[in-house]
Amino acid sequence: MKQMLEEIRNAAENALARAEGMDALEQVRIKYLGKKGELTAVLKGMGKLSKEERPVIGALANEIRSSLEAALDAKKAQLAAALEEKRLAAEAVDVTMPGTRRESGKLHPLTQVMNNIKDTFIGMGFTIAEGPEVELDYYNFEALNIPKNHPARDTQDTFYIDDDVVLRTQTSPMQVRVMEQTKPPIRIIAPGRVYRSDSVDATHSPVFHQIEGLVVDKGVTMADLKGTLETFIHALYGNDTKVRFRPHHFPFTEPSAEVDVSCFVCGGEGCGVCKGEGWIEILGCGMVHPKVLANCGIDPEVYSGFAFGIGLERIAMRKYDINDLRLFTENDLRFLKQF
Ligand code: DAH
Repeated sequence: MKQMLEEIRNAAENALARAEGMDALEQVRIKYLGKKGELTAVLKGMGKLSKEERPVIGALANEIRSSLEAALDAKKAQLAAALEEKRLAAEAVDVTMPGTRRESGKLHPLTQVMNNIKDTFIGMGFTIAEGPEVELDYYNFEALNIPKNHPARDTQDTFYIDDDVVLRTQTSPMQVRVMEQTKPPIRIIAPGRVYRSDSVDATHSPVFHQIEGLVVDKGVTMADLKGTLETFIHALYGNDTKVRFRPHHFPFTEPSAEVDVSCFVCGGEGCGVCKGEGWIEILGCGMVHPKVLANCGIDPEVYSGFAFGIGLERIAMRKYDINDLRLFTENDLRFLKQF
């Protein structure tokens, strides 16, 4: 009996040493100390022992039981500590590791160029005027010296909401709106969206942006117009850019000009982008027509002014060397992320 108990002790101790985890440990406990366990079975059979044997074996069995229980508890604590350590290691935060970067959005390239242009003119003392995209025929055409049957309407066909209301084809109607409401001196730019009945290709879109400019005061001359626009172009493209004023016709300015800048690809030599001309047209301008001043209640004998209309998309294309207008509106992040 004594030997049997010692064997149980050995077997239990070996099993304990080999137990790798809480489940295995529990199995050992059940096997030896559980209700139907091996040691329990021995204790249950004590009744069959002689009077002399009983206390000796009983004491030994109890001693084995408490020593096994203690060993079990110790092993349990050891396992729990190891598990805890593992959990902490897994949860550890390395404060020296780089964080997850949150990507910030940015302004659309057209907005960036628009802001740039606004800043330049604000720096020259201009203020910003905004007006409606759904515009009266009167402001878009009539008051700008483009009556109903004027051929200039052909090149600026648009969506007619009714006979008197159109989607504006230019920001020039803002000249009239401002002059009607403000007494000179006037110095404004009017940026915004304009619409024309054009089909989409690399350089045309039915929706695009213009920035209108208007200066009216006593004694304003063509020299002021040239100085202002040259300052603007040099601020935008750098002082090396050459600027050319070429005579043109607009119904609401007299004289009128188109302004070209030296080609950004060839620098003026002539290439595919400038169609061999060495120059790229970026805006129209002129001295405000006396009739337009009079239409707005400003005496052309006292005041004079100049006006200009800049095409935003063209400016941005030239600035960033972009050869297709459609890229601006396709929302392709590979394109947009470059700016
Ligand atoms: N509105 C004209 C266009 O869309 C551009 C323009 C030309 C505006 C001459 C002006 C100007 O203010 O004086 O083609």
